[in-house]
Amino acid sequence: MSDGRSVSAEPHGLEPETVWNVQLPEIRVGARAVEELGRQLRSLGVVEGDRGLVVTDRTLVGLGHADRVTDAIEDGGFDVDIYDDCAREPSVADVTACLSFVREEGDGGYDFYVGLGGGSCMDTAKATRAVVANGGSPLDYVAEPTGAGEDLTESGPPLVLLPTTAGTGSEISPVAILSVEEKEIKEGISSNSVRADAAVLDPTLTTSLPPDVTARTAMDALGHAMEGYTTHAFDDLLRPTDPADRPVYAGRTGFTELFSERAIELLSGNVRAAVNNGDDLSARTGLLKGALYGAIAGLTAGASLCHAMAYPVGNRYHTYHGETIAVLTPASTLGYNAASDPERFAALADLLGANTDGLGTRAAADRAREAFLQLQQDLGVLPSGLHDLAGVTEDDIGWLAEQTVDTQQRLLRCNPRPVTAADVASVFRDALHNWG
Ligand SMILES: [Fe+2]
Repeated sequence: MSDGRSVSAEPHGLEPETVWNVQLPEIRVGARAVEELGRQLRSLGVVEGDRGLVVTDRTLVGLGHADRVTDAIEDGGFDVDIYDDCAREPSVADVTACLSFVREEGDGGYDFYVGLGGGSCMDTAKATRAVVANGGSPLDYVAEPTGAGEDLTESGPPLVLLPTTAGTGSEISPVAILSVEEKEIKEGISSNSVRADAAVLDPTLTTSLPPDVTARTAMDALGHAMEGYTTHAFDDLLRPTDPADRPVYAGRTGFTELFSERAIELLSGNVRAAVNNGDDLSARTGLLKGALYGAIAGLTAGASLCHAMAYPVGNRYHTYHGETIAVLTPASTLGYNAASDPERFAALADLLGANTDGLGTRAAADRAREAFLQLQQDLGVLPSGLHDLAGVTEDDIGWLAEQTVDTQQRLLRCNPRPVTAADVASVFRDALHNWG
């Protein structure tokens, strides 16, 4: 027996994964849940006289939502400052500005943090708390090679997030997405220490969203649910020697599938009504719960090819994340990936409300893409493809594909079907024109 052969037959000594776990913040859901924010903070150890910071933007101040949050905090017996300078799709510089505010106004740090807004405000709050608690600057904790990739060892004081859109799932996710302007890419600070301690989901904070924001944030949420539903199984991975080395995006499990399935039904079943009538509280509640379930599924199991492709697009063209996901999903999640498991995609078509009666598996799987495109067209406010979204043409595809492969391995590793740079380019090409 040659030593070489015995080594190559057992190169790593690891066995298939047998364990999964789920980490979530405390979650509070329902109309006027914001009024219970004081109680929520107290249950996290905040005590009378503590001083916190609400991280939000001027639109939410103008709408009166920030006042509802600060009133609830003050009613709980706590002091609060407000930072209302969050930027859309925050950059490292935007987070650094919030950090400077904390270091100057908050005496180096607050006793608790509250993020109010869409993903941009929540990610700014998450990144700020993490960097204040661990020292240094945001790029120290951004994944390599863009940042230094240092570990976040401290979670910091309590953080509560209140989403005002039903989409990003940032309220429960372990990631803060930042754009790194000088490198023209978006990257994540990804760690369980980034995750909030509690999420308060109140649909009355979402009724003021206009139809286009409602539609695109719902498309992001559907992306999480569908990518989580179709990603690799957790036991496709190897079991790490140290449980701490288990990846944040660990693959789908029976637990995540339950949430994916319900999320897809809730989101696809309520988004038309919420776009048509923003004050429809029942539809808003359905969307908010659907986005939560989609995030529990997708951001535990792991987003995949579509989200990987969306980051270079968003960073180069400054498009909204949800619109970018909307135009890329048909070609990626529901196109290229459908060959990975046709039976699963046929089930996905049913969850999207498609009629698959009498169809074979492959034909039924194709109905998922058709149903999703019909839904987008019915909403009437979404772009018809990458070209309509940002003027992307064939000439731009090489750069976009290269950036995706070079910077998004964290997500591409989760894709249920292997992808090369040429595959990514072909999916980008397929997404230029979805209809019209
Ligand atoms: Fe997303």
